[in-house]
Amino acid sequence: MDLVEVNKVFHDHECDYYDERFAIVHDAASARRALAEVEGLLGRALRAGEVVLDAGCGTGWLAAGLRRARPDVVVVGSDLSAGMLGKARAAGGWPLIQADGTRLPVASGSVDVLVCRGVLHHLPDVPAALAEWRRVLREDGAVVLSSEPTTVVEQHGAVLVRLLLRALHKPLTAEEDFWEVASMAANLHTFTVPQVEELGRAAGFTRPVLRTADWLSTMVLTASYVTHGRRPGLARRLPWRQVEALAARWDALVTDRLLPASLRHTVVGRLQP
Ligand SMILES: C[S@@+](CC[C@H](N)C(=O)[O-])C[C@H]1O[C@@H](n2cnc3c(N)ncnc32)[C@H](O)[C@@H]1O
Repeated sequence: MDLVEVNKVFHDHECDYYDERFAIVHDAASARRALAEVEGLLGRALRAGEVVLDAGCGTGWLAAGLRRARPDVVVVGSDLSAGMLGKARAAGGWPLIQADGTRLPVASGSVDVLVCRGVLHHLPDVPAALAEWRRVLREDGAVVLSSEPTTVVEQHGAVLVRLLLRALHKPLTAEEDFWEVASMAANLHTFTVPQVEELGRAAGFTRPVLRTADWLSTMVLTASYVTHGRRPGLARRLPWRQVEALAARWDALVTDRLLPASLRHTVVGRLQP
């Protein structure tokens, strides 16, 4: 099975409900949040004129958000899925490139910051992607990673999904079941910090600055995704976006400081040559 093709087909389908199920909005507040996320993980402010490539931009939360928050920075979005790119364009992301993350039609050494938010775990050949990202990056550039799942998020998420499915009590149609299986087939990896550090080093990133983050926000998003899938009428009456924003704030203030690192749900940080 060609797992890149599986991802393309799945994300071309998912793009129609991605923002709603993942509580994504494209407004001034989310643009500020996108900028804060990137600059926080990068460890510095973006500089005017810098080139930022959002690899796997999806519906453009970062690509459109960064462009809105920092019009003096050149933000380019790329994604495998034409459907996702259509949504990113509608959200204000531009320019956009349709490309596999392991084969970017971008000149070597031309990118200052490559951002990758929740994409690495969809790529069948992670070492090839990191080598490609190292190629396109300037010597003093950085790859900013966020929302990459840790192993533990699958365990915690599975418990939540089981409870929700029991509570929502709605069997899937054959078509819904197909897309559920496609979703599982498209999510290829979970990571630990040492694994990503090692993968980064092998690709020529000698200075990894990585950590784990998040707990509550990922649980809220899992609940949103499942509830929208099973009971869309009910899901649309609940304020997922506000709850997710509060959960993300809680994670930044409490989870990322007090919860043991091994229990957190995402790998975040930066890789530098
Ligand atoms: C979970 S979404 C994340 C989207 C976006 N970065 C965000 O934060 O909302 C994963 C994205 O990776 C893209 N993707 C999957 N495989 C890819 C590949 N081989 N090359 C480029 N993009 C890919 C999908 O089309 C999808 O838009």
